[in-house]
Amino acid sequence: MSATAEVRRLTTPQDLFQAAAEEVIRVATESVKQRGRFTIALSGGSTPKNLYTLIAANAGSSLPWAQMFCFWGDERMVPLDDPDSNYRMAKEALLSKVPLPAGNIYPVPAENQDAAAVAEAYDETIRKFFALEAGAFPRFDLILLGMGPDGHTASLFPETAALQEKSRLVVANWVEKLKTSRITFTLPVLNAARCVTFLVSGVDKAPALHQVLEGDAPGEKYPSKLVRPSRGKLIWFVDRAAASQLKPLA
Ligand code: 6PG
Repeated sequence: MSATAEVRRLTTPQDLFQAAAEEVIRVATESVKQRGRFTIALSGGSTPKNLYTLIAANAGSSLPWAQMFCFWGDERMVPLDDPDSNYRMAKEALLSKVPLPAGNIYPVPAENQDAAAVAEAYDETIRKFFALEAGAFPRFDLILLGMGPDGHTASLFPETAALQEKSRLVVANWVEKLKTSRITFTLPVLNAARCVTFLVSGVDKAPALHQVLEGDAPGEKYPSKLVRPSRGKLIWFVDRAAASQLKPLA
């Protein structure tokens, strides 16, 4: 684990969404104050969806929408209006309900059937946005992540090729158990962020959370373990059910 990892144990899922929403507002406000903009990467999944819904309902006036730039840490190979699209989920739960300028939204162009080409195009979009020199990685202000019951995060699944990527920002990752490719940020991008938050809710996540935070299984088997921002903050928001296999707090 990164020396800077912090685990925030909340009681209910609702407490978790509330705490995560407050952190998003805090990071956004600080980023705009320090650098004049807030860059965020969203994730898919049901836990982030609840966070987006809460932000849309309660925090609409607390975020600096005009200075906020929105990307996705992973995406499925489906059109943007497909029910499985992470972009569509974020649009329905949040983006369509807040005054975020359309030009500040950078979806993964997943309608192209060639997954490698999609990944390359998104990689290029990010390089241009951050004006990166060759070999450099972007420093997102905030990357929101979920974790699957198998320990995957973004679309970095256990024992998949993307875990080895050292230079590209975005890759197409073949996931044998899903028999599909997913587009995903690579570990160097996650680990270059200024702040990474995991949102983990539910008892089905308890065994993986234990392995990731306290177990000695290799990171290859639990990719969330490989997320250790080298110069950034790492915060785990976990509810009581997800934390049920963690050591009790002293
Ligand atoms: C996706 C993801 C994925 C997700 C986790 C947790 O596109 O599915 O980005 O990494 O965040 O699987 O999802 P839940 O919150 O639904 O359990």
